[in-house]
Amino acid sequence: MFDHRAKTWDSDPAKVERAQAVANAIQRLVPLHPKMTALEYGCGTGLLSFALRPYVGSITLADTSQGMLDVLNEKIRNTGSQGMTALRLDLCTDPLPTARFDLIYSLMTLHHIPDTERILRRFHAILAPQGWLCIADLDKEDGSFHGAGFDGHNGFERETLKQMARAAGFTDMHFETVFCITKEVAGQQRGFPLFLMTARRED
Ligand SMILES: C[S@@+](CC[C@H](N)C(=O)[O-])C[C@H]1O[C@@H](n2cnc3c(N)ncnc32)[C@H](O)[C@@H]1O
Repeated sequence: MFDHRAKTWDSDPAKVERAQAVANAIQRLVPLHPKMTALEYGCGTGLLSFALRPYVGSITLADTSQGMLDVLNEKIRNTGSQGMTALRLDLCTDPLPTARFDLIYSLMTLHHIPDTERILRRFHAILAPQGWLCIADLDKEDGSFHGAGFDGHNGFERETLKQMARAAGFTDMHFETVFCITKEVAGQQRGFPLFLMTARRED
């Protein structure tokens, strides 16, 4: 689904701007440090991780789209970035990686994953104790963001996501609106707010 969009993904300034806005909010809300190991889940071309790279120790960037990962690997090579590793991974179906991370973050990916409760449990399982989870995604909307034929989630109710995170073993859930995605719907410009949820693994 995303393979054919990978090559032009970064040429949309709005995607770069939203990744930077989420990176700024993560920097503000999470005590990042140079020894932190991070996983970006659903990384696409890695826009968010390139923005956070100076503030953590190493980043594994996971996605299911080989097209996205090819573009990402080219960017890592071209920029000579150290400590960034692209990984083809589907946590919905693949075995859990053996590594444990201090920080997991994800931008605009959760709504593509059918079983939200399960993916939150999978994130919990691969976080180190006291590790941080940061999810940036759309607030609940009427389906006009993707339009007809989309079979993912039409955004999320914050309270519902908070309860799911608690059930998966997370604590200290905190929500902020960090960006607004503008999109043309039926000839009109519409704004779709993007929240950031931060949470911590309890034990
Ligand atoms: C809307 S794009 C967002 C990409 C990037 N986070 C950004 O904001 O620029 C969603 C990404 O999630 C990936 N994705 C979809 N389902 C996935 C899954 N089950 N596991 C991992 N990645 C997935 C897609 O391949 C795509 O790169």
